[in-house]
Amino acid sequence: MTDDRESGASSQNPSRVPPIEDWHRLLDGRVAVVTGGGAGIGGAISRLFAQHGALVEIVEIDPDRAALVVEDIEAVGGVARAHVVDVRFDAEVEDLRGEVLGEHGRIDVLVNNVGDHRPLVRFHESDPESWSAMYAVNLEHLFRVTRAFLTPMIDGGGGSIVNVHSVEGMRGFPGEPVYAAMKAAAAHFTTSLAAGYGRRGIRVNGIGPDLTQTTQVDYLAPDGPSGAGDHLWESWTPVGRLGWPVDQARVALFLASDLSAFVTGHNVPVDGGTLAGGGWFFSPEARRFVNRPTGL
Ligand SMILES: NC(=O)c1ccc[n+]([C@@H]2O[C@H](COP(=O)([O-])OP(=O)(O)OC[C@H]3O[C@@H](n4cnc5c(N)ncnc54)[C@H](O)[C@@H]3O)[C@@H](O)[C@H]2O)c1
Repeated sequence: MTDDRESGASSQNPSRVPPIEDWHRLLDGRVAVVTGGGAGIGGAISRLFAQHGALVEIVEIDPDRAALVVEDIEAVGGVARAHVVDVRFDAEVEDLRGEVLGEHGRIDVLVNNVGDHRPLVRFHESDPESWSAMYAVNLEHLFRVTRAFLTPMIDGGGGSIVNVHSVEGMRGFPGEPVYAAMKAAAAHFTTSLAAGYGRRGIRVNGIGPDLTQTTQVDYLAPDGPSGAGDHLWESWTPVGRLGWPVDQARVALFLASDLSAFVTGHNVPVDGGTLAGGGWFFSPEARRFVNRPTGL
């Protein structure tokens, strides 16, 4: 006879669809680790998960940002803790693992959200140092943090991993091919991990954001990318507006919760339709889509 874990078989009952007990608390009592959870998309994910009953472990390099999100969550009766951690370093992630498992004895949800396109280096001016920096902040920590929590997740009966990468990993990005390559690798890591660990109760999915207002990508700053004027959003996204962190968080909630119990290995562009409409722009003047915009 073979042990379930050795054979790779799931300990879950194959004929059972997990029931949704409470539609307002989709993560009730679940332990959720969110990296980069102190601002932007990670901040919105932390808040929404807590609102849905998760015990949120915020992993953040910036202590003030982490403290602020914990304060917000506690103010509305939620549960969260801050961990000041730089996910680029093994020892800090090991300590984090100890703190989370020491407190709860398990982990149910992991959101790998840390990533940064800065500094934007043109490829012909890049060097091994800039490539390594892109690797460290956009890809390597996914391996590190996922490995740290995967075994406890399996031992606890399963869980959900959500990797926040970028729509730039799902299309060509002329601005920073190295960043785009790291994001594409994160998307493929998602798919491959899902295929390997599904039978052990682990689901893995990814989100590819685009055009979302955050501290890192401040479209609304006077000198920010949106400086040209709000009316242009009609051209920039098929849905005709800027994205907000909560747009990303809602999809993360779906992927983290049992709503998506039969979904694994997928990367969802959360982009207002930019990937779908790639190359086509709505022209407010012509009142139609054009693939050769003028007047730029
Ligand atoms: N905002 C967008 O439009 C957009 C578009 C494409 C992809 N993304 C991706 O979405 C994710 C979140 O982006 P965002 O715009 O919310 O970014 P953000 O910079 O606003 O927030 C990221 C958070 O992560 C923290 N952080 C950074 N490095 C860290 C480290 N080494 N260890 C721990 N914490 C760290 C930061 O302090 C910050 O609070 C990133 O992976 C980013 O590449 C965002």
